[in-house]
Amino acid sequence: MRALFVVLKPLCFLALLGYCPSATIRPKEGWQVYSSAQDADGRCICTVVAPEQNLCSRDAKSRQLRQLLEKIQNMSQSIEVLNLRTQRDFQYVMKMESQMKGLRSKFRQIESNRRTLLTKNFQELKGKMNELQPLIPVLEQYKTDATLISQFKEEIRNLSLVLTAIQEEIGAYDYEELQQRVLSLEGRLRNCMNKLTCGKLMKITGPITVKTSGTRFGAWMTDPQASPKNNKVWYMDSYTNNKIVREYKSVSDFVAGVESRTYNLPFHWAGTNHVVYNGSLYYNKYQSNIIVRYSFESGRVMTQRALESAGFHNVYPYTWGGFSDIDLMADELGLWAIYATNQNAGNIVISQLDPLTIQVLNSWNTEYSKRNAGESFMICGTLYITNSHLTGAKVYYSYSTKTSTYEYMDIPIHNQYFHMSMLDYNARDRALYGWNNGHQVLFNVTLFHIIKTDDES
Ligand SMILES: *[C@@H]1O[C@H](CO)[C@@H](O)[C@H](O)[C@H]1NC(C)=O
Ligand SMILES: *[C@@H]1O[C@H](CO)[C@@H](O)[C@H](O)[C@H]1NC(C)=O
Ligand SMILES: *[C@@H]1O[C@H](CO)[C@@H](O)[C@H](O)[C@H]1NC(C)=O
Ligand SMILES: *[C@@H]1O[C@H](CO)[C@@H](O)[C@H](O)[C@H]1NC(C)=O
Repeated sequence: MRALFVVLKPLCFLALLGYCPSATIRPKEGWQVYSSAQDADGRCICTVVAPEQNLCSRDAKSRQLRQLLEKIQNMSQSIEVLNLRTQRDFQYVMKMESQMKGLRSKFRQIESNRRTLLTKNFQELKGKMNELQPLIPVLEQYKTDATLISQFKEEIRNLSLVLTAIQEEIGAYDYEELQQRVLSLEGRLRNCMNKLTCGKLMKITGPITVKTSGTRFGAWMTDPQASPKNNKVWYMDSYTNNKIVREYKSVSDFVAGVESRTYNLPFHWAGTNHVVYNGSLYYNKYQSNIIVRYSFESGRVMTQRALESAGFHNVYPYTWGGFSDIDLMADELGLWAIYATNQNAGNIVISQLDPLTIQVLNSWNTEYSKRNAGESFMICGTLYITNSHLTGAKVYYSYSTKTSTYEYMDIPIHNQYFHMSMLDYNARDRALYGWNNGHQVLFNVTLFHIIKTDDES
């Protein structure tokens, strides 16, 4: 009997069992992959049972095996991407940690000199340092998580080697069932990875200036739901009295000014807070709280719906005005509207929207005044609010829709051209798109992931 175990400790536990005819499990045709069980620690367990060798027809389905292998290779490529991203964050965390440790030892040195202990500045700094102390175990946890990802990576590679070995040894067999199960395993791995890519905002870097064009106020974006190959850019200059959307096939076409299409919308838009999501443009119709869904493919308005109670037409705009009352955005979890109502005393309300019907699925009331917000963007179900559209702006407040709790924060954002009229997160690019005083800019975000070993999918 041949037994091969591949253990995926961080996320999934995979066991590969070579099957021998005398064992009690009798797979009738081909392979069986059991992937639903959970062990005592809540990890998912996948068990693969190989078929009896004499059931295998040597000449059949080797193509399917190749596809299966390719799938696993593709999975490992995705993990590679994840790993790269994590490494980037990891370096940031390591740097922060060494800075904190350096600071700590400096404090110890100074503390041994009694005279400086009395100065007020020193006491303040020391207080700040003490506030940072709890971060150290968090950083430790992060290092552990990064190690787990690289283990995960290695184990996927091992699994692929194991399958190759089996292919060489046995040849070919009936794969339909196995393929099904691998597909579901793949789906679950993707879920795991989505969970890994979600996290709390730690840092914003950039901007990179992609292009300088248009008026001081406008919006530009790509579709986070589009396939990685489709990188169309949409461009909507100005916040009022316009209804022309320009489309570019790629970012380089956008930079070169090579337009591929223009769309003449049936209604003017208000503000700069539109979003393109899954092939449709969602925007706020001028002088109303109506949200319009316009399909680029059909060139038609598919849905229109009023966002009940939402203030509009500069009743509750962001700090810069510009009819920016209703901000539409998308993140890993779907489509959102950010606005304010009289009922919530002009404070920001977060609503999750159904992308097809634009109906409100769920709402959360924050206590942050919309008129005091510079901009806001959503990452992984958490809303981040900046305190200004001008120089010195920072991410100042966040609200998690998962826990319905808020938090004050202090994450600087470099407002290079002094006036920010649009700032939105794109989950596919993991970047913030901004319109910075007639410059189209991109920021990178660093997210902090806490990886749990329980599998919620
Ligand atoms: C693997 O990825 C490549 C490139 O993205 C794709 O063409 C191919 O169809 C994928 N294979 C499978 C089996 O999913
Ligand atoms: C992967 O395979 C190698 C060689 O068989 C082994 O040394 C290593 O421990 C395996 N890694 C994991 C994480 O299972
Ligand atoms: C995107 O649109 C397609 C059809 O156009 C639909 O099948 C799919 O469910 C949509 N995805 C999301 C996330 O809304
Ligand atoms: C974001 O990070 C990636 C990878 O490190 C880099 O290639 C890209 O230029 C960065 N973009 C911005 C806007 O800083």
